[in-house]
Amino acid sequence: MTPIRMLRTALAAASAMMLLAGTAQAADGMDVASAKTIYSQGAKADYLAGYHMKKKVADCSTCHPNDKVTDSQSEIDKKCATCHGSYESLGKKDMAAGQKISAHAGHLSIDSCTTCHGGHEASFAYCNNCHIFDMPMKFGRQKIAYTPVDLSIYRDAMPNRTEKADFVVVGAGGAGIAAAIEASRKGLKTIVLEKMPIIGGSSLLSTGGMNVAGSKQQKAAGINDTPEMFTQDTLKVGKGTNDKVLVNVLTEQSNSALEWFEALGGKLDLDPGVYGGCQAPRMHYTKSGGIGRYMIKEMKPALEKSGADVRVNSQVVRLERDKNGAVTGVLVKGKNTGLYRISAPTVLLATGSYANNGKLVSKYHPEFFGMVTSAQPGSHGDGIYLGQDVGAKVTHLERVQVHPNIASGTSLMITLAMRTNGGILVNNKGQRFYNDNAPRNELGAAMLKQPAQKVWLIYDDAVVAKRPKVHQGYVRLGVVTEGDTPEALAKKLGLPAEEFAKTMKRYAGFVKAKNDADFGRKELPEPLNQGKIYAIDVVPAIGGTLGGLRTDARTHVLDNNGKKIPGLLAAGEVVGEWHGDDRYGGNAVAGNIVFGRIAAQEAAAAVGK
Ligand SMILES: Cc1cc2nc3c(=O)[nH]c(=O)nc-3n(C[C@H](O)[C@H](O)[C@H](O)COP(=O)(O)OP(=O)(O)OC[C@H]3O[C@@H](n4cnc5c(N)ncnc54)[C@H](O)[C@@H]3O)c2cc1C
Ligand code: HEC
Ligand code: HEC
Ligand code: HEC
Ligand code: HEC
Repeated sequence: MTPIRMLRTALAAASAMMLLAGTAQAADGMDVASAKTIYSQGAKADYLAGYHMKKKVADCSTCHPNDKVTDSQSEIDKKCATCHGSYESLGKKDMAAGQKISAHAGHLSIDSCTTCHGGHEASFAYCNNCHIFDMPMKFGRQKIAYTPVDLSIYRDAMPNRTEKADFVVVGAGGAGIAAAIEASRKGLKTIVLEKMPIIGGSSLLSTGGMNVAGSKQQKAAGINDTPEMFTQDTLKVGKGTNDKVLVNVLTEQSNSALEWFEALGGKLDLDPGVYGGCQAPRMHYTKSGGIGRYMIKEMKPALEKSGADVRVNSQVVRLERDKNGAVTGVLVKGKNTGLYRISAPTVLLATGSYANNGKLVSKYHPEFFGMVTSAQPGSHGDGIYLGQDVGAKVTHLERVQVHPNIASGTSLMITLAMRTNGGILVNNKGQRFYNDNAPRNELGAAMLKQPAQKVWLIYDDAVVAKRPKVHQGYVRLGVVTEGDTPEALAKKLGLPAEEFAKTMKRYAGFVKAKNDADFGRKELPEPLNQGKIYAIDVVPAIGGTLGGLRTDARTHVLDNNGKKIPGLLAAGEVVGEWHGDDRYGGNAVAGNIVFGRIAAQEAAAAVGK
């Protein structure tokens, strides 16, 4: 070992010890009673809890009714709401008071006050993990960084207690939630662990829609579509490198996934846009706005009703194994209760992507170093590590998607539906530069080659008419520039007006002639000369990741010899290969439900239910 490496190893070991010592202390009972003196005076009293105590409106036991602080902190949230009103009612109050955007009226399915308001620590508006709102909070600070934790420090850590369950779901995004609902309904004692303070993951953010072949919506619109056609298109976008077994499962079960969702009370419509080069419109969306926020909102009551035990602020840091290599449970780091073990015959990894793990991404793509991502702040790839640590096969971590359409200066992804429904991309010369409806990886790469990497998404009122809510949301966020004519818009954007107007006219001609002579775009739904014209300054960003764990058709995680690792399942974005080289937009949301449900069926089979 070189001296530097030795030093690094020693430092890592020391910080691991400190970390473990810290958690052990919490586990040993930094309970409310023993913290009384510390928390009533000094620096610790300078936050929101101290403020309440100084004002004599609350005491320790007011906010902590049973002298215990759970990881989810839901007992505290209930108390806040008793005095101040519910999250929803606060939001209504803020809006009634004329606030344009309120932290109490977001789209994240939050009902926990302590997601943003700290008691004995600084507060932080969670919204600003992705947006840049002016949200000064009492006792607030600017930014909490959710950085990846090196989970290897927990390899030899000891739990302070053990619980039991039939099924443990790691990660409460779309895949995890679908699995948990299904499993609990089958009578399995299901525990869902989510490391962030809220559920929903990146799934909350998906905006475009869900791909389904053979839906009643398609039939009503007279569209002929089959799982076989859906498979062909998925393989085409993925350049044939997809695991065909997984693709077939997805396409064959997509319609039953939609029906399952609709049986929960959701309702989706068919989007007329066609993803570049595909054979039929098959993206199903909601008129209410983004698909992800709608799905999570609809699934949340079903999750609660199902009886699944959902714990936020609870990170799985290790998989437990028996001597034969079978997974037997998880080690959890609870925010307030320390390290504990849950034993279960089946564990599902539904931990999402590694898009927000800059270190891992730039290991494969140094050129992406420092690039923003539109994924949720906790997308660190924990599941890849957890799986690998028990011998799972991991492939193609270099498959990182660069999306062409994140609003500049934010991590807000502008949905691809604005392009499939007619929008185009122009560079700072006011010119188109590529087939604007090409698969995203191609577009992302083309965009990186533009002068100063400056690109605008352009659309008009005819496109808006197809996705009005989504457009209105972008306007609310202040990312849209509008003009009455191309010249007027170009002036506002600082583009060469004459050239831009020429581009728009030329494009309208291509639409009329049904032939894009410049870039061969096949789907030409709109001439972009209807009503107002709009622009969003977009930059490339990491949209998601495609590499990950290998699974079979029934979500079993495979080892390097292609054998099942007993007790371990995976679903969602942590799984590799199903998208191949590039993901067909709309497949992820469908796959979450398809594979989440299969995982639940496998977990049920493991306990004979
Ligand atoms: C802005 C945006 C728009 C998108 N639009 C679309 C679209 O229109 N259509 C489409 O099909 N796809 C879309 N996608 C992709 C799609 O949303 C994701 O691929 C998919 O939702 C991932 O679901 P998931 O359940 O696997 O992961 P997630 O929803 O990310 O959930 C994983 C959860 O696991 C948690 N977790 C991670 N590690 C741990 C741990 N160690 N312990 C406990 N919990 C852990 C995470 O915090 C997270 O909450 C979009 C993605 C983004 C970011
Ligand atoms: C206004 C409500 C409020 C009051 C009053 C309050 N707390 Fe808290 N407490 C919180 C919140 C919110 C958290 C969640 C974590 C955080 O923000 O520190 C918390 C967390 C804790 C925790 C667990 C996390 C940690 O910091 O170790 C302990 C222990 C605790 N409080 C003790 C106390 C004691 C002792 C008192 C009285 C001196 C007190 N609290 C008064 C709101 C309150
Ligand atoms: C027992 C009732 C009670 C509970 C419980 C309580 N509060 Fe309060 N809170 C009050 C009152 C009353 C005030 C006003 C104090 C004053 O300024 O005189 C206040 C003040 C505040 C303020 C500052 C308001 C301002 O004017 O800026 C915030 C923020 C706040 N509370 C949030 C919370 C949160 C978050 C929780 C839960 C962790 C909580 N409160 C729990 C009663 C309560
Ligand atoms: C997503 C972050 C977030 C969540 C969740 C949140 N708050 Fe707030 N809260 C804020 C911010 C930011 C402010 C500062 C005022 C503003 O900008 O709206 C605030 C202000 C307040 C205030 C002070 C005055 C007011 O009404 O604006 C109270 C009281 C309060 N919050 C209570 C709560 C309670 C109770 C909950 C849970 C039901 C809650 N908050 C959940 C971010 C949040
Ligand atoms: C993890 C990233 C993330 C966080 C955190 C986040 N947003 Fe967003 N926000 C997005 C994305 C992506 C969109 C566009 C997709 C959509 O509309 O669902 C969006 C859209 C919006 C819009 C426009 C659509 C509309 O509903 O009008 C508003 C306003 C907004 N967010 C406010 C908030 C507020 C308030 C919070 C905090 C409570 C918040 N956001 C937290 C990512 C985030």
